[in-house]
Amino acid sequence: MTTEVTIFVNGAEQTRAVEPRTLLVEFLREGLGLTGTHVGCDTSQCGACTVLLDGKAVKSCTVLAVQAAGQHVTTVEGIGSVEALHPVQAAFWEKHGLQCGFCTPGVMMTAIGLLQERPQPSEGEIRSALDGVICRCTGYQNIVRAVQDAAVRMAARDAQTASD
Ligand code: FES
Ligand code: FES
Repeated sequence: MTTEVTIFVNGAEQTRAVEPRTLLVEFLREGLGLTGTHVGCDTSQCGACTVLLDGKAVKSCTVLAVQAAGQHVTTVEGIGSVEALHPVQAAFWEKHGLQCGFCTPGVMMTAIGLLQERPQPSEGEIRSALDGVICRCTGYQNIVRAVQDAAVRMAARDAQTASD
């Protein structure tokens, strides 16, 4: 049995037929082809599937597609472009906060969720926010530096937007 679900993904209305057990991550990857959101575990521990759901970072393997009906989801594909990187993307590039592409989308979406809630987080708050995402191949030190740099970049962007 399937039911139609509409979710606003990266600003676009998307309607798909889903089963009651379909996960949000499956809706994104298999339904919409947004494969930047990854599945790295089956125990809700890795954070590779993290997206923003109505602005809050959530693990999309822990949310049913039907639970997200009518809500706004942002995936890594929706945060910036090659021509106009999101401040978090620019900071991760500048501070070498990434090595592979598997965990990085989830780490960046977690960082965006944190910075939207706490624009000037302490190092402890950054580390606490990141403890839900697992990186297997680099140290967390550069990731923390990248999030600190992203906080500065986002504040500058917001100040610029406010003065425009
Ligand atoms: S796929 Fe690992 S936490 Fe979601
Ligand atoms: S940079 Fe890939 S697992 Fe962390």
